[in-house]
Order: sequence, then structure tokens, then C-alpha cells
Amino acid sequence: MLPRSVATADVEGKVVLVRSDLNVPLEDGRVADDTRIQASLPTLRLLLERGARQVRVCSHLGRPKTDEDRAKYAMAPVREAVNAALGDERVEVLENTRFNPGETKNDPDFARELADGCDLYVDDAFGSAHRAHSSTVGVAELLPAYAGLLLLEELRNLGRLLGDVERPFVIVSGGAKVEDKIGVLQNLGARADAVLIGGKMAEDVRTDNPFTFEAILPVDVVAAKEFAADAETQVTPFDALPDGWLGLDVGPETRDEFARRIAGARTVFWNGPMGVFEWPAFAAGTVAVAEAVAACDGFTVVGGGDSVRAVHEAGVAERISWISTGGGASLELLEGKELPGVKAIPE
Ligand code: 3PG
Ligand code: MG
Repeated sequence: MLPRSVATADVEGKVVLVRSDLNVPLEDGRVADDTRIQASLPTLRLLLERGARQVRVCSHLGRPKTDEDRAKYAMAPVREAVNAALGDERVEVLENTRFNPGETKNDPDFARELADGCDLYVDDAFGSAHRAHSSTVGVAELLPAYAGLLLLEELRNLGRLLGDVERPFVIVSGGAKVEDKIGVLQNLGARADAVLIGGKMAEDVRTDNPFTFEAILPVDVVAAKEFAADAETQVTPFDALPDGWLGLDVGPETRDEFARRIAGARTVFWNGPMGVFEWPAFAAGTVAVAEAVAACDGFTVVGGGDSVRAVHEAGVAERISWISTGGGASLELLEGKELPGVKAIPE
């Protein structure tokens, strides 16, 4: 069963609190990829069209910890982008929810602060639905809660990867949030016919592989002498990285092998880049995966802020069956977990 839709809510004259996932990749203080912003607009437009008096949009941005992070993760560039897209004074984008330390603890006081003065709550933040935080779960207990259009569309599309899928089912995983993903992959791996692992994830499991399913690791890597865009590089075997060097991309043999396996798949789910693709010297592995997923004629899903950015930068977005705004959230959904942000909304 899907949670009840915002389309069924009477919002005329109401103050609506919307939780979107506006956690976009930033670069030099700019929005580096606006997929999540664009994907959040239909719900906001619906509320405006249906006469909401005020639309308060909240989201987290990054994982701010220190005081300096407050400048780095301020909502300003995101707010500007939303305002430029909607041009409606009834819309107010609130400051980064994670600037309040209560947010990630699902602190009821912070939930009350967010809910204060609002008549109803719309959760459209699929990408954050796996987090039980004040802005995703706490507020849903204080206000009548509805699911936004994006959240529902994500649940419908990703639902196709649950239960019976066309096989071979290939999962490709990489990216930086390794600790978050290992447990999920452990459960998910059993459902797939092959799990290809690259990026930081592969680096972290090189010496101590925790997976009980057969994970396909890189055979070669693009090694860098230091963590820098213009670092000296060499291609080395995956298990023979010179001391002190860093594997920042998968190597050419791995690219071919991963592409071959993806080409033979009927269902593909890809989350997380194969390396530091923001730097051209380490982008080839991620681009190769993006192109292989696009060329595959099965049902293909790409999820996660960075992978989505890579798919756009590789110019192959139109050839992916579903681009999910959720990274960790799509992984946990696929694992068969009930997402707290979804569970908090009545059916
Ligand atoms: C994401 O980028 O996956 C979501 O926005 C959630 O971010 P988080 O992993 O920092 O909670
Ligand atoms: Mg992410």
C-alpha cells in the first residue's frame, strides 16, 4: 500500500510544511547538480496551484558538524535555485535542518519548532525517507501528513525492483558513504546475480572483505600519488597498490569487465560512483559504468546524488529507465526495509 497522496489533501488557504530532499551536490558554493531540486518542484507547484497560503520547504544539506560547516552547507544557493524556478512569494525555503542538533535525533522539540504555525505536512523527501529525523518523522506525528508526488513516484518505480525481477539482476555499488552501505549490500547481495563493487567501497574492502555473497571487485585501479586532481597517476593491479598511493578510480580492465556484465543484465541497479569522478583524471570508470547502464536494454535504475550527477554529466540520463533521487533510501527500500519516513504517513 502506498501512503496517502498530497493530491488528496485540501490545502486551500493552509500553511504547508514540505520536507523535500534538497541535499544536492555542491561545488565552490554552487549547486553542482540540480536533479533533486527539479524533482521536488512538481509537489511545490501543486500546492501553489491549489491555493496554499504558505509553503515552507525544509531539507538537510550535507552532513554539517563544525561551525565552519555552517557556511559551507548554508541553504542559500539551494534557496536561490528554488526561488528562481518558482518565483512565488508564498514559498519559503528554511535553513538547513541539520544546523539544529536535534534533527538527526528526531528531537520532538525541533519537530514542534518546524510544525509551529503549519496546518499540514507533506513529505516529498524520498532520499531521506530512511532517516527517522525530526523533519521526516517527528513532524508527521504532529501534523496531518501526506506523501508528495516525488515520494510516490519513487515508491512506484523502485517497487519494480522488489519481488520478482527479470534476471540477470546486476547491482553496481560504489561511492563514499561506505559504512552506511555495507550492511545494506550484505542483505541485498543475496537477491542479485552479480554485485560489482568499485569506488571507495572497493578500497575499503580490499584487505578485509565482509561480504558473504560473491562480490566482484576491481582487478585494476587508477592509483594516485596523493589526493589531488593533478596527482601523478599509474594503473596498478587492485591488490598491488604501491605503499601510500590511493586508488581513485577503477582501471581499464575493470571497466571492460563491469561493462560486459552490465550489458548482459535484464535488471540493473547502480548506486555510487566508481571513483573521484569530479576530477577528469579519475572519471573514466564512472563514465564507463554510466554508458554501460545506458546501453543495457533491461530495466535500469540509477540512484544517489553523485551517481545521478555522473549520469547527467555523461549525457546518458534519457537512456536510464528510472533515475532515483534516493541513494541510501533506495538501497534500504530494495533491501526490503520499511522506510521510517514512509511509515509515518497514513495510507
Ligand atoms: C542522500 O544524499 O542520500 C540523502 O540526502 C540522505 O543524506 P544522508 O545520508 O546524509 O542522511
Ligand atoms: Mg547521497
